[in-house]
Amino acid sequence: MPAATRNTPEGATDLFRTEPFHRTGDQGPVPFTFIDLFAGIGGFRLGLQRLGGSCVFTSEWDKFSQQTYRKWFGELPHGDINDIDAADIPNHDILAAGFPCQPFSIAGVSKKRSLGMPDGFDCQKQGNLFFRICEIVDEKRPPVLILENVKNLKSHDKRQTWPVIKSELEKLDYVVYDRIIDARHWVPQHRERIFIVCFDRNIFGARPDFIFPEPPGGTSPKFRDILEDPSDVDNVDRKYILTAHLWRYLQNYAAKHKAKGNGFGFGMTDLDGVSRTLSARYYKDGSEVLIPRGKNGKARPRRLTIVEAAHLMGFREVVSQRDDVPVSDTQAYKQFGNAVVPDVVEAVASQVLRVMVGKLAKGKKGCLLKK
Ligand SMILES: C[S@@+](CC[C@H](N)C(=O)[O-])C[C@H]1O[C@@H](n2cnc3c(N)ncnc32)[C@H](O)[C@@H]1O
Repeated sequence: MPAATRNTPEGATDLFRTEPFHRTGDQGPVPFTFIDLFAGIGGFRLGLQRLGGSCVFTSEWDKFSQQTYRKWFGELPHGDINDIDAADIPNHDILAAGFPCQPFSIAGVSKKRSLGMPDGFDCQKQGNLFFRICEIVDEKRPPVLILENVKNLKSHDKRQTWPVIKSELEKLDYVVYDRIIDARHWVPQHRERIFIVCFDRNIFGARPDFIFPEPPGGTSPKFRDILEDPSDVDNVDRKYILTAHLWRYLQNYAAKHKAKGNGFGFGMTDLDGVSRTLSARYYKDGSEVLIPRGKNGKARPRRLTIVEAAHLMGFREVVSQRDDVPVSDTQAYKQFGNAVVPDVVEAVASQVLRVMVGKLAKGKKGCLLKK
């Protein structure tokens, strides 16, 4: 395995070399470093870079996600995290990881169970990756960890999974905060995810002054805002319109489940509201986020375009046209459906930075952040 090296910015677009990002008047950008594990297409990276963070190491093994990541950030992520020697990872202030959620997500668990496969931590291949994070934490001792996962993590396996995760982090001497946050306050999508923020007790003490962010004030984002042409939903490539066959199938499927008293079915989106959660399987039928067409929504609906999917997830600064996403539609939907919303990362991390900056001001050495 080649030694894990600091990511080189060579070839990077200068997208992020513009003015430093000022989120709040009083704080300004803080020159912290972070690592991006299970990076996907860099939702954590975008959110942390907006706050002045500098990424020093990335790992993501999916070759299509790597392509997208490379296009946006100019760096090819390191591959399988199991093949990387933790000691080779550069020092960093924040470890960020949206570790694979499939072993814990409702859809992932029922699929694995129906196939007689183990789920959660018993899933050798993916469930144990949480413990890989713990090994890296043990070796590198980053002051702060920000982890993200599906909401179901807390209820998984009759609520037995979450206490294991929490106690492992506490055993490593971190103080653990967790909150389920709905991204709908930042982007027009109902997307609940658990955010786990951990502070090294040896640096921050037993009660760091951390609170999760409040939803931003002002008007809520509307789904209409992410449409390529908000005045004309039809102003997109016709390939995004559902075929007559698929539309009939979705309607029949929904009717069948309704008759049984189930809520399953497609999600026809209210343009002045928020959509359902975009999932990694959106490429299959687009059923969870459909866009109504025609007078009174009578025409066959359409799916999100790739640019709309990017904007529904909050990836605004890297995607303004289809060519900005270097993979097929199928791969692109998978990537956005798996991603974390950068705006939520930004909101959570700006609260983390307040704690870090407060500590910096109080610290005797005057410097908390690792070089
Ligand atoms: C839930 S997604 C994280 C998405 C990311 N937060 C984003 O914003 O795009 C988990 C990612 O972990 C990657 N992954 C899974 N196992 C891995 C491994 N052993 N080494 C590196 N990456 C892995 C998957 O390919 C997937 O992209």
